[in-house]
Amino acid sequence: MTVNRFTTLELKEMKQRKEKITMITAYDYPTAQIADEAGVETILVGDSLGNVVLGYDNTLAVTLNDMIHHGKAVVRGSKRAFVIIDMPFLTYQINSEDALRNAGRIIQETGAQGLKLEGGVEIAEAVKGITSAGIPVVGHLGLTPQSVGQLGGYKVQGKDPQVARKMIKDALTLEDAGAFMVVLECIPWQLGKVITEKLSIPVIGIGAGAYCDGQVLVFHDVMGIYAGKRPKFVKQYAAARDEMKKGVEAYISEVRQGTYPEEKHTFTMSEEILEIALKE
Ligand code: KIV
Repeated sequence: MTVNRFTTLELKEMKQRKEKITMITAYDYPTAQIADEAGVETILVGDSLGNVVLGYDNTLAVTLNDMIHHGKAVVRGSKRAFVIIDMPFLTYQINSEDALRNAGRIIQETGAQGLKLEGGVEIAEAVKGITSAGIPVVGHLGLTPQSVGQLGGYKVQGKDPQVARKMIKDALTLEDAGAFMVVLECIPWQLGKVITEKLSIPVIGIGAGAYCDGQVLVFHDVMGIYAGKRPKFVKQYAAARDEMKKGVEAYISEVRQGTYPEEKHTFTMSEEILEIALKE
């Protein structure tokens, strides 16, 4: 039996019914399976891949091929979730044709349902072009990690009235350009609430307060796998890194002591066959 994935329409109806939408990142087959089986409505193949999986300092080194490679595994690992893939740095900012060509490649090669782009008014033409081709687009405002250099670091955004006003305008522009969802990252909760109320499309927060229509977090932060610095908005729900490390330590110890493998982990052959094999 085929299980249908969540649709943009169902996600919009969840906002209208005031039901919270859940999103978590995933980067490979097992993390996608875990998220999907747990029941999230949406999975984001975030370019945070660069930090938590590939070991870069930021997301700028992540390529289109990286996102396609990991996106394919996430689509294979999930059945019900609506899968959104981040368009990486410089794959949509150059011009709208380039943006559409790259968007098409990601969707065609991965089978994902939607794409996420960082930015507001400046990327409105790219969003229009991609949505006109029938590809669902998620906008991303606030702390946009691809612009970390320009933002002066990983800081709360929108505390300044001009920046807050521009963010509201950006959110409305993204909705007008055809985006079906917006992610708000690391902004004051009051601004998160205003934008959520002004938009008719779902608003998903990450460090944007409790009034957003849903929440997103990075899988490796939630599970306690990532050893790097964690932002204030992260809540860790499991200690998987410690558990995994304990498992590897136990394995090392048993191999060294010779208590692994036991007979039940081995294969056998008959003496006669061995004798024949050993004959000249
Ligand atoms: O790349 C990512 O994981 C993201 C989320 C933090 C929203 O963009």
